Amino acid sequence: MANDKLMKAKEVKNDEFYTEYKTISDEIGHYRNQLKGKIIYCNCDDPSWSNFWKYFHNNFASLGLKKLVSTHFQKDSEPSYKIEYCGGDDFNIDAGKISEIVGNTAKINGKEVFYTAGDFRSEDCIKLLKEADVVCTNPPFSLFREYLNQLIEYNKQFIIIGNQNASHNKEIFPLFKENKIWYGASIHSGGVDFRMPDDLDSYSSNVFIKNGHHYINLAGIRWITNLDVKYRHEGLWHKNGQFDKTQAHTYYEGNEDKYLKYDNFDAIDIKSANEIPIDYEGMMGVPITILDRFNPEELELIGIGSGSMAAKIGVKKNYRGRTDIAYTLPDGTHKCPFSRVIVRNLHPIKKSEDLGY
Ligand SMILES: C[S@@+](CC[C@H](N)C(=O)[O-])C[C@H]1O[C@@H](n2cnc3c(N)ncnc32)[C@H](O)[C@@H]1O
Repeated sequence: MANDKLMKAKEVKNDEFYTEYKTISDEIGHYRNQLKGKIIYCNCDDPSWSNFWKYFHNNFASLGLKKLVSTHFQKDSEPSYKIEYCGGDDFNIDAGKISEIVGNTAKINGKEVFYTAGDFRSEDCIKLLKEADVVCTNPPFSLFREYLNQLIEYNKQFIIIGNQNASHNKEIFPLFKENKIWYGASIHSGGVDFRMPDDLDSYSSNVFIKNGHHYINLAGIRWITNLDVKYRHEGLWHKNGQFDKTQAHTYYEGNEDKYLKYDNFDAIDIKSANEIPIDYEGMMGVPITILDRFNPEELELIGIGSGSMAAKIGVKKNYRGRTDIAYTLPDGTHKCPFSRVIVRNLHPIKKSEDLGY
């Protein structure tokens, strides 16, 4: 029994956070033109309550979708079901054709694994994944890496929501670096409200009641997608894909003493995206929030400034014996800046040649 409770708490901690309708509509509206004629698959969504199902159902005609399919995870070995909708009764969220899906056993790294019905890794769900054009959901936080890797493996388009901590991960960061994934359009700061189950024995202190239900406000939430988004054509120095001549720029030339050089890696430290000098040709360590304004025409992502990923790009051991980038302050103290990614300006412009402002 105690173990059951622990399991439940663990599951909730990781996975049971439900997305609000407005969070979804604020994001999906940015992709209207890219969703026309597409088959949408929500593969972690129980249509009896999922707002993803509800949003795409309500907006089926207005988005010009071809088909909407939803499946959800069945915890025991019972069958689950898929529901598909091809239009005609958009505001009746029960409208759709239901059919049974089942679990299966698979051999993973020589081990027999049983996927219960509706597990995104099960045979039935993979078959539906292959038929889909765009996958859209809030997947289980605890399986985020595996979930994303599956989407990449099957070459799918997707709009999914998760925690930005995943971006530092050694399997996920390379996808950002290779411009295979990026942040979505609507969330770039602040916290996001998620609904939680109402029947838990206890809640953490940051859970609150809204409209009679339990909610939590989570920081660091981002949409992750591989569909085109406007900010990717703007970034630091562009507007709608054009160099923005109306902006004042920051220069390294003349301000060299403002930028600290790392002790164990050949790059300068930048404290905020607005301080990235347009004329610097070398590598720069910038806060990971650069991903919220990342235009791949402007910057190249080189790597992460800490841990084993930093060692890979040549960061040497620092004053603590670790491969985390570090600098020495004018008073002689050493410091590792928080959460840096290493970037390089693809088209540095000399101060004397800058056509901006
Ligand atoms: C973060 S919740 C989000 C639910 C819903 N997509 C939403 O946005 O409101 C993730 C859901 O995935 C379910 N889940 C857990 N493991 C799964 C798996 N292997 N395959 C499919 N769904 C899973 C969880 O039960 C949970 O309901």
